[in-house]
This record gives sequence, structure tokens and C-alpha cells, in this order.
Amino acid sequence: MNAALPVEVLKQHLIDPEICIRCNTCEETCPIDAITHDSNNYVVDPDICNGCMACVPPCPTGSIDNWRLVVRTEAYSLQDQLGWDELPREQPLPEAAGAAPAEADATLAPAPAAAVAIPSAAPGASVPPWSAAHPYVNLYTHKTPVTATVVGNYRVTGADTDSDIHHIVLDFGELPFPVLEGQSIGILPPGADAQGRPHHARQYSLASPRDGERAGYNNLSLTVKRVTEDHQGQSAHGVCSNYLCDLAKNDTVQVIGPFGHTFLMPNHPRANLIMICTGTGSAPMRAMTERYRRRIETGENGRLLLFFGARTERELPYFGPLMKLPRDFIDINLALSREAGQPKRYVQDLIRERAAAVRELLADRNTCIYVCGLKGMEVGVLDALREVTMQAGQDWTILHDVLRREGRLHFETY
Ligand code: A2P
Repeated sequence: MNAALPVEVLKQHLIDPEICIRCNTCEETCPIDAITHDSNNYVVDPDICNGCMACVPPCPTGSIDNWRLVVRTEAYSLQDQLGWDELPREQPLPEAAGAAPAEADATLAPAPAAAVAIPSAAPGASVPPWSAAHPYVNLYTHKTPVTATVVGNYRVTGADTDSDIHHIVLDFGELPFPVLEGQSIGILPPGADAQGRPHHARQYSLASPRDGERAGYNNLSLTVKRVTEDHQGQSAHGVCSNYLCDLAKNDTVQVIGPFGHTFLMPNHPRANLIMICTGTGSAPMRAMTERYRRRIETGENGRLLLFFGARTERELPYFGPLMKLPRDFIDINLALSREAGQPKRYVQDLIRERAAAVRELLADRNTCIYVCGLKGMEVGVLDALREVTMQAGQDWTILHDVLRREGRLHFETY
């Protein structure tokens, strides 16, 4: 009798559409462009993915870490994956595949990289600072959201400006929703998309510290900009941002999360924070600053250096409360790009102007750097950091690598 021909088994990398929050982190991280998306799903091309694992640690939800043993010629195509609402069940391999799954895993699947590979293109760390507190993630998913109640919703930019940015406070009552500064949550807007599918969750960073927007209460806050145009300036209606900005007190919202296990603040005494943000990217900076402010009396705080970019003072969220903070508590540098009678300035210009202060903090291993806001500023900020370190005769390539390996440089851009 003829023996069955051996078939090649693939350990296929898949993304769980029920947990994925479509944040684009995986697509940005993949060093070989194996990940792509449409309006429904993020998917992995089985012909390109080499199982390097670079995308796995940065994923805030863990939805990226799914694998199926399949016969290579029958791998799930991009078209299959784009149509999924949930992952397919594991299928038994045909006998001709020979080995039992575990064995096949060891012999035929593409070997995941031994250590987590950090692609050289990734600007930031894929690990948290060593002293970060341990975060909870995925307590609530698309299938099991939690209901929160709106207990506050007010505008934090000048009423006469185009930037309609809201501070929204959500209360979880008796239900557990433990969070850390730097984490995010997902909001499920009601209704359906053009194809009649329920809207996917939209991700928002927390603007409040771990012990609540109001200390000791089971609530948190978000900083939400009403989206009325896209990045190209064309008219566009943001489904979730408009829904959130229009909420009234006592309305309820469906929430999933929390998410994020790397963009976290250090927890040890005398840790310094360099915070660089634009617009609503100020949310995590507000959370971290407030964490420090609430423990001023302990004397444990390190230094806070903030670079904050906005069009004008009136379009800078939380301008009033920010300017009330004591100058010996936080070193505030505002980069205003459209203030009448002033030259256009970006955060990277101020980093250069404050080179000495930046260098001093960078020389201290207790310093962590957080960058949040417009995608476009990533390159500008990295260039500015390179310039200020090289001015002092240091090698930025080495320092950059150290900052990433030690979980001391974090980006969250959109
Ligand atoms: P600009 O006036 O050139 O748009 P927004 O209000 O759109 O959220 O932007 C927040 C701030 O970030 C604005 O001052 C904006 O300036 C600025 N900005 C835009 N592009 C960049 C960039 N590539 N690097 C740094 N800041 C930027």
C-alpha cells in the first residue's frame, strides 16, 4: 500500500477579530509588512509572515497572539480572514501531516524568534520600565463589555476655537475596572457601520491616574477630540468621538479593556518623566502628572519635564489647570504653532531649545520618556533627541537602543 505523502504544516499566525481593537500597532510594528487591514479586520499574510514575534509584545490586547496548525496549501487566505467575525476553531490535521500537533509545532512550523525581536524600525520600547506596576488587560471584551455611567462631560478648549476637546468622566459603580496611567480603554459606539455590522471599539487613553479621576472613586477620565475632518482636512464625521462629546450626565456607555502593558510609568522613587505630546496626546501625561501631584508630600517624586504642542493656548486642552501647577513641581514648555504674532513652534523645536535640561535627565537612568499625539511628530522628536545627545558627543544610536531595551522610551501616536 502506498504511504500518504507528507504535507507541509504551517503554524499560521492569526489575529482574533473579537478582541482586536484595530489600533494599527501590529501593522506599524511588522518589520516585513505581513499585516494589513480593511474596514473590518486586521489580518496576517501567511505567505509573508515568518513568525518573528516582533508584533506580539506591542499589541495592547493580546489579540495578535493566535496561532493555528494548518496544512500550508490550505492556510487561511487574507480574503478568509478579512471576512471573519471570530477565529475558526482548531481543525485536526490530516494524517498525511504525520506528526501530532505538538510535534509538528516543533518540527515544521516557522520557528518563532528565540528572543523577542525588536525591529530596528520600532521607535520605542516593547517592554515597560522595570518598576512599572503590573497592569490588568482585557477584563472586558467586545462580547462582554461593562456599562459605565457618565458623571462629567465638559469642554477643555476655548469655546471660540475649532478644537472641540472634551474631558469625559466615566464611573464604574461597583464593577471592577482597575487601570494604570498610560493604559487605554475601548468604547463601543452604538449602531452599525455601512455594512450593518456593529461598530468596532474605539481606543482612548486614560487621562486620570490609577486611583480615579476623583481620588478613591471607581471612575476614570478620557480626553476626546470631536472629529469633524480627516488628517487631510477633508470633512469627516468621527462616529465615536461625536457620540462621546454629545453624552450627557447619567448616560451609559459600553466599555471594553483595559488595554496596554508597556506604555506605563515607573513606580520607583525619584523616577523622572520627560513627557512630549500634542493635543489629546496629553491624556496620559495628565494621568502621570496627576499621579505625581497626589504624592507631592511624600518627597519621592523625581523631575517632570513637559513639552506640549497645540495650535494656540486656547486650543491646548487643560491649559488653565496646567498653568496652576507649581513650577518647581513640573517644568512646562508649550509649543504653539498658530499663535498670532508668534513664530510657529513644534515640540521638537523646544526640545532643542531645552537641550541642556533634556541631556541632564537623559543622563539619569531613572528617566523615562513618553511621546503621545500626532504620528507626524515621531520623526521630529527622534531627530531632536538625536541632535541634543550628539551635541554632547554621545552616540544616539547606542542611547536609543538602551532606552528601548530598558523600557524607558515609549510612543503612542495616531
Ligand atoms: P500645526 O499648526 O502645524 O497643525 P492638532 O491641533 O491638529 O491636534 O495639532 C496639535 C499640534 O501639533 C499643532 O500645534 C500642530 O501644528 C502640531 N503638529 C502638526 N504636525 C506636527 C509634527 N509633525 N510634529 C510636531 N507637531 C506637529
